Amino acid sequence: MLTVEQLREAMGRLPRVELAVLPTPVHECPNLSRELGISLAVKRDDLTGLAFGGNKTRKFEFVFGDALQKGADVIVAGFGSQSNFARQAAAACARLGLKCYLVNRYDDRARKVGIQGNYLLDFILGARVWLVPPEQLADARRKLAEELRALGHRPYILNDTEAVLGAVAYAGCVAELTEQLAEPPQYLVLASGSGTQAGVLLGVKALGLPTRVIGFRPSRVPDATVKEQIAAIATEAAALMGLKIRVQPEEVENSEDYVGEAYGIVTPACLDAIELLARTEGILLDPVYSGKAFSGLVDYVRRGIIPTGSRVVFIHTGGQPAIFAYASEFIEHGGYRMQVVEDIRRGILSPVPAPGD
Ligand SMILES: Cc1ncc(COP(=O)(O)O)c(C=O)c1O
Repeated sequence: MLTVEQLREAMGRLPRVELAVLPTPVHECPNLSRELGISLAVKRDDLTGLAFGGNKTRKFEFVFGDALQKGADVIVAGFGSQSNFARQAAAACARLGLKCYLVNRYDDRARKVGIQGNYLLDFILGARVWLVPPEQLADARRKLAEELRALGHRPYILNDTEAVLGAVAYAGCVAELTEQLAEPPQYLVLASGSGTQAGVLLGVKALGLPTRVIGFRPSRVPDATVKEQIAAIATEAAALMGLKIRVQPEEVENSEDYVGEAYGIVTPACLDAIELLARTEGILLDPVYSGKAFSGLVDYVRRGIIPTGSRVVFIHTGGQPAIFAYASEFIEHGGYRMQVVEDIRRGILSPVPAPGD
């Protein structure tokens, strides 16, 4: 078992650049705690400070540390068209003076809303953005890296190292949280399908905390695959830090029960959960990751899987710019237009005059 200082020392073996505003705050949620019958706090990793923040900014301190140590001068990265990873990569590149090439998926959201949300921010942040069909993604990134190399650049593909170095960063998040709280929580809940949960589990295990870590993944992937991946990432991150800690797949608790139809398609429960936290605590979640995970947390409490009275910390991993790419789903689900119509009908609101009226 390590102390917080020893865990920090182990992290200190790895190259790191400063990108995030740390420590991120822990916000107690008195109103929602009362409503749910638990003691809930939110660890605000949506407030890591770089271009709307999120979990990648914390991870990128180590990933860009590695890139710079390896002499990289251009960065290649990418995921979905609304990728929070890509947006934070573009911002980190801007800050560090690196050119950013994003090769993202041409997916349903891009077809539906075009340049909006994270995709819009990628451009504002100065990245070059290409959208390619999903099946060509990995090849397109490698090919681009080769072309950049042929031009005399030293490209670094962020996707290759993000999970393991990101897990180092999230072990650090647990160290940070341990210093912020009087006592370790009984439950740590988060949206994650890989590196973030691996790091959190590693941190909990390294510090010997009596905390159950519950991850809710954003996509449909077989349970065994996810558990094996998370355990392998955690074990590899530990080895990088010189720690002899192994995380086994059986130690990983990660559920896909709140994904709904598929990755990136909102569920009614997710939209309800986003409104619930927004309207009780003024905290916004995102519709792809944290909103679905929070709907899982609420359901676990209502079903008694997380018992009444428990101390729960939700790690908010960010992602809010995607809200704007899902505006139509929010408007429809929440009946927002009907609220306006109703208020006009009752004479509370005047209709907005048309231009020229
Ligand atoms: C908002 C948000 N939450 C959670 C995650 C999941 O992180 P990880 O890949 O480390 O599991 C992501 C990843 O893109 C994200 O953008």
